[in-house]
Amino acid sequence: MGNSLGKLFTITSFGESHGNCMGIVVDGCPAGLPLTEADIQQEVARRRPGAVGTTERWEPDKVEIISGVYDGHSTGAPIAMLSWNKDVDSGVYKKNRFALRPGHADYTAFVKYGGFNDFRGGGRFSGRITLACVMAGAIAKKLLGRLGIDVFAHTVEIGGIKARAQALSDIKEKARENSLWCADPEAAEKMARLIEQTREEKDSIGGIIEGIALNVPAGLGEPVFDNFDGELAKALFAIPAVKGVAFGAGFAVASMKGSENNDLYDIKDGKIVTRTNNAGGVLGGISTGMPVIVRVAVKPTASIARSQETVDIEKMVKTSLAVMGRHDTCIVPRAVPGVEAMLAVTICDFARRAGLIPGVLS
Ligand SMILES: Cc1cc2nc3c(=O)[nH]c(=O)nc-3n(C[C@H](O)[C@H](O)[C@H](O)COP(=O)(O)O)c2cc1C
Repeated sequence: MGNSLGKLFTITSFGESHGNCMGIVVDGCPAGLPLTEADIQQEVARRRPGAVGTTERWEPDKVEIISGVYDGHSTGAPIAMLSWNKDVDSGVYKKNRFALRPGHADYTAFVKYGGFNDFRGGGRFSGRITLACVMAGAIAKKLLGRLGIDVFAHTVEIGGIKARAQALSDIKEKARENSLWCADPEAAEKMARLIEQTREEKDSIGGIIEGIALNVPAGLGEPVFDNFDGELAKALFAIPAVKGVAFGAGFAVASMKGSENNDLYDIKDGKIVTRTNNAGGVLGGISTGMPVIVRVAVKPTASIARSQETVDIEKMVKTSLAVMGRHDTCIVPRAVPGVEAMLAVTICDFARRAGLIPGVLS
């Protein structure tokens, strides 16, 4: 089963897009963390639709904490959280149940679960899975905040339009000024126009999200199989539509010389630092103490209103399909909080494994 992640700070995901609810169980949160539904709700609100070209499905996404919190503090018991699905319209999914959406998980899910999987709204393969991950991420962020670790993400590219590079210290605030979570307002406007145009063309576009974690201490990660970068990549690939994960200079290292790629060591305020950060904050599967920088490639939304050739898997005949329903023209902005959540949850797990977070907080 692949519904759980982590070793000492674990999350277990449950729920389907058009089922009763989306939920998550967080185990390994120490006792004594001040925690309310409002703490979780404010993170969840950031992934709701609203940006140009996002789904018209309008869910309240109201978070309920159903265990593990008493009197405003975590108790040390598993924290189960959920949000009831309200705005569900499964008509189109039932009508097209056996017409495989090109680019979506309909075919692979049918093969794996013999057709018993809940296909409505994409079921377990829906972007709504990230709603529950964001709930867990809210707890992880609070815990990391106590260690001074700040985790955030921003949109760096949509449909080929690239945001201008910004100082690390400016990105978080600037990215929160528009609904695309892009720190470059001029690029954000162009991106918004392109998304709108693409929606009118009954098509979709993808892009790149950059995740950043500041003040991560050197020494996190468990080589050789639970590498810092490997576990982060695994968590990020759990976000539907993510097709690539790259740290620091990423694929560009392939054409660099060692003298260009090596991050030279230096000493700053009595601490070892590197002058550049092509490694993206990780060497040998262990955090270096430099900012963790990871880029995530998000593919264009599979469900598009344009007619495409496909196959009806029940009748085993060729057919065509224009996916109507309510879909995001570009997934990128709604996946940004998901990237933050997966980074926070994974770094929190490593911090617990390194003994940086005690079992009881004072
Ligand atoms: C926040 C979010 C929203 C998404 N919305 C849609 C959508 O409206 N329509 C769609 O076809 N896919 C959407 N997806 C992507 C699919 O869930 C994903 O492409 C599908 O499960 C196949 O998985 P894969 O692309 O990772 O291989 C969304 C993903 C995320 C993270």
